Amino acid sequence: MSAQAPVKRITVPQIAARKGDTPIVALTAYTAPMAAMVDAHAEVILVGDSLGMVIHGLPSTIGVTLDMMILHGQAVMRGSARAMVVIDMPFGSYEESPQQAFRNAARIMSETGAGAVKLEGGARMADTIAFLTSRGIPVMGHVGLTPQSTLTMGGFRTQGRDQATWPAHVADAQAVEQAGAFSLVVEGVMEPLADQITQAIAIPTIGIGASARCDGQILVLDDMLGLSGRVPRFVQKFGDLGPRAEQAIADYACAVRDRSFPGPDQTYR
Ligand code: KIV
Repeated sequence: MSAQAPVKRITVPQIAARKGDTPIVALTAYTAPMAAMVDAHAEVILVGDSLGMVIHGLPSTIGVTLDMMILHGQAVMRGSARAMVVIDMPFGSYEESPQQAFRNAARIMSETGAGAVKLEGGARMADTIAFLTSRGIPVMGHVGLTPQSTLTMGGFRTQGRDQATWPAHVADAQAVEQAGAFSLVVEGVMEPLADQITQAIAIPTIGIGASARCDGQILVLDDMLGLSGRVPRFVQKFGDLGPRAEQAIADYACAVRDRSFPGPDQTYR
């Protein structure tokens, strides 16, 4: 009898090699059961700091802590076997210095076993990305609309509406690539700019609200499933689970109130 070979996780070089190839499928997940569902279909699972809003009811990603990211990262690692798990570095955990970033990224990597961290910012974060990658921590970059900076950006605004800003966005992407990142999330940018960024760098771009010009796509799972209330305009829903879940809860409440709830003799047969 032959023992089944253990499932191997997708690696950083495998994702990097997808430049210009079959588009990379990426989704967020924050819990073990959701990670298990995504694992069968996506190459990358991002434990995004969007969990602050999606799971914890925070108004933005600003209040998300390193401990929250580690806890959800551990759950997602337990629920998945094949996809590469990337964990967001939350606001305040990496901006101060490359040393601070290394200390916190090392905690994420050693306490979760994830494959990489993601952090936001272009040229301004290049030194930090180089510090991490040269010390063995794979980094996914994130440019364009960077949610941790929405206070300074004045809200969730599509980037690159003014063509004069394009060179700066492209330079940001190139700085992240040159610092050693293996892939780059490009969020909320106009299609021609997403195209320029994708052409300008040799690492795969993973778009969110950035058109099909990117080398892959990522969405917040709950948005895509129709489980979130308000979602950004660019989110294509592939399910409408919110109303169905609400109906199931209402049906349960009715069953309890009219005593049609099954007793133990029916449940444990
Ligand atoms: O936090 C998150 O979920 C993200 C994705 C939207 C890219 O950063």
